[in-house]
Amino acid sequence: MPDDVARQVPPPPVALLAELTHRCPLSCPYCSNPVEMVPRGSEMNTADWARVFDEAAALGVLQLHLSGGEPAARRDLEDLVAAARGAGLYVNLITSGLGLTEARLDALEAAGLDHVQLSLQGVRPEVSDRIGGVAGAFDRKMALARSVVARGLPLTLNAVMHRHNLDDLPATIMLAEALGARRIEVACVQFHGWAAINRAGLMPTRAQTEAAKATVAAARARLKGRLVIDFVPPDYHADFPKSCMGGWGSTGLNVAPDGTVLPCHAAQSIPGMTFPNVREVPLALAWAHSPAFNAFRGTDWMPEPCRSCDRRSIDQGGCRCQALAILGDAAAPDPVCRRTPGRAQLDRLLAGLPGPEAAPAPLTPRAAVR
Ligand code: SF4
Ligand code: FES
Repeated sequence: MPDDVARQVPPPPVALLAELTHRCPLSCPYCSNPVEMVPRGSEMNTADWARVFDEAAALGVLQLHLSGGEPAARRDLEDLVAAARGAGLYVNLITSGLGLTEARLDALEAAGLDHVQLSLQGVRPEVSDRIGGVAGAFDRKMALARSVVARGLPLTLNAVMHRHNLDDLPATIMLAEALGARRIEVACVQFHGWAAINRAGLMPTRAQTEAAKATVAAARARLKGRLVIDFVPPDYHADFPKSCMGGWGSTGLNVAPDGTVLPCHAAQSIPGMTFPNVREVPLALAWAHSPAFNAFRGTDWMPEPCRSCDRRSIDQGGCRCQALAILGDAAAPDPVCRRTPGRAQLDRLLAGLPGPEAAPAPLTPRAAVR
């Protein structure tokens, strides 16, 4: 990157994803956390996180997403919410719902929690509990969802969809409606972290994908003004890539449980890249001037055909981590793009996955970490 670009101060990020812990009671086969997780002993403490929240607010961050793993695995979650609210951040809790008792919800509400985003592994208890690996988890999630809505807290359902549950999409949307959720994110699995191990079992068929698009379009028309439906289709079946993170180092950043500051949740898969740690470097410095954040910022890094493409400001060349995973080169255009030579490699990979007539490959669950 040229010196003059590196010296420029980029606009501030809008959102910070705080991965409070990698510990989680579930064992979802599509977990996007890295294969090598941060152990409990290396997690930042309450004071470290509170300082990060203050620095984030000073930098210009507006929204804080408390994530994991399962954030409720942290006994200081209520203190962290209070600290974030004290810093002036809008606080969203992304949770499996397990570990959140009514008493803890009371305390979180009192601490100023603004929003709850609840993960959904399926709409049928047997599917949900099988995918998440915890018997009875579905009923606990439903109880939590009802409690959140009864408290007047806005609820988003985060439905991760794949070959085993995408046919249940109409029922999934109906469940969000029945629970009184304000929003549902229908996100088809992205193959990062542990999820990549299960690609053959999780990848939806093209027919499932087309049916899902039609379902979402009809539901959006029917529920306009009542339920917002975000939809992330499986991009392997698309012609153009998605804009990952709204562009590298552009609108958001992640902080891992040990304080590593990341441009996206899978960035540590990129070999040879050194990431700043907020225990050693101020967040503002990490954002604006670290080589990792500047590596793929803007358009100067782009190879052809992205560099001269009319879509480069729409998708920013797609996902760096997907380019690495499929092509072995994080600086290549996302292979989803049909304008790039890398697409042939993705098509070969797709052709090798179980077709619509074949049974999907068995799933390897991630071991629950406590
Ligand atoms: Fe996006 Fe690059 Fe493809 Fe253009 S060539 S659509 S910028 S990935
Ligand atoms: Fe890293 Fe897309 S997940 S750039």
